[in-house]
Amino acid sequence: MSQLISVIGAGTMGSGIAQVAASNGCQVTIVDSSQPALENSKSKLKSILNRLVEKGKINEEQSKSILARIHWTTKMDEISNSNMVIEAIVENLEIKQNLFSEMESLVSDICILATNTSSLSVSKIASVCKLKSRIMGVHFFNPVPLMKLVEVIPTEETDKKLLSEVKSSLEGWGKSVVTAKDTPGFIVNRVARPFYSEALKIYEEGLADFATIDWAMKEFGGFRMGPFELMDYIGNDVNYSATKAVYDGTNHDPRYKPSPIQKKLMDEGLLGRKSGKGYFDYSENAVNPEPNKNEKLGQQIFNRILALLINAAVDALHLNIATRDDIDTAMTTGVNYPKGLLKWADDIGPNSPLEQLKELHTQSGNDRYIASPLLIKKVEEGGTFY
Ligand code: NAI
Repeated sequence: MSQLISVIGAGTMGSGIAQVAASNGCQVTIVDSSQPALENSKSKLKSILNRLVEKGKINEEQSKSILARIHWTTKMDEISNSNMVIEAIVENLEIKQNLFSEMESLVSDICILATNTSSLSVSKIASVCKLKSRIMGVHFFNPVPLMKLVEVIPTEETDKKLLSEVKSSLEGWGKSVVTAKDTPGFIVNRVARPFYSEALKIYEEGLADFATIDWAMKEFGGFRMGPFELMDYIGNDVNYSATKAVYDGTNHDPRYKPSPIQKKLMDEGLLGRKSGKGYFDYSENAVNPEPNKNEKLGQQIFNRILALLINAAVDALHLNIATRDDIDTAMTTGVNYPKGLLKWADDIGPNSPLEQLKELHTQSGNDRYIASPLLIKKVEEGGTFY
């Protein structure tokens, strides 16, 4: 890409994006309004690079040149020569809009402006700008240097040529790039919702405890982490706001309704690993419950969660949020699912999740189990996704 990259926001995401850009030969300017945030970003990057040298992943010289390519500053006007600016500041529409107006006044007309927002509408952020064709979402995943996926989000007004230039540059950085429509949660944060919410529903119904549900998803689904350990890892506040953003953004689609348990944990400060306690206890001598390794129960839990995940993926395809391949790539490279969900639907046959959903809907009367029209169509036509 663009050799001169500016990143606004020196937090978790901005620092990661800067590291990846500089490691791929770009000159990077990181701007943050907070001097301590810049110092923290710099010292963290130094220790990350030292670790990479110790592990033999890069040599001393590479580490030095990566650092030398990054410049940390509080001065916004230093972005003026950039070919691309990636915004990664606080997740607040008004603050991001103000920043985009300011950025527009500082850079040239050919500079690409991107936002790393995870839950706001890219077109709403862009709405305050005069020149909208060079604005897009470029959604990285945390930790940026390790997670391969980047969701690129054009608005109705984004220039298609610029979009494909950005995509190929990101691929050049070693990223796996998918295109998503400017819809709540884009691909991953939307399609993954049932992994958490249906697990919470199963717990709410008293069918199984956290440890058993986690065991079922790992044992029968091959997921690297169960829903509860993953929520604790992500942070229950972050996960709750992602759910709420999708729920609000879809006009309260019952399939994305947040669980009251998740809200309660957040309100009580039980945020997961970062606070020492969430669904599990992370204190030194804590004893966490053992799963009930009942095969029949485990299989039942897995089938149920998988049916809802497949339904969410099929519905994303139905709504043209992304292509079949991009939906599957997003889930395998963004959240490490063992298999793409549409591929999974083909492997077990689309009839299986549909029957599961119908049964759950009949039993509960809850519209969260309404099947996507495309899933119904596939079953009726006897077709597959691949
Ligand atoms: P963070 O809180 O770690 O960092 C944000 C930084 O922006 C802070 O250093 C803050 O001082 C700075 N900042 C705030 N307002 C500013 C302004 N007006 N001008 C300059 N600097 C300003 O946040 P994080 O986690 O890095 O998130 C940044 C963005 O990336 C958010 O939009 C978030 O939704 C998105 N995102 C976050 C992910 C995550 O897992 N943390 C994953 C994907 C996207």
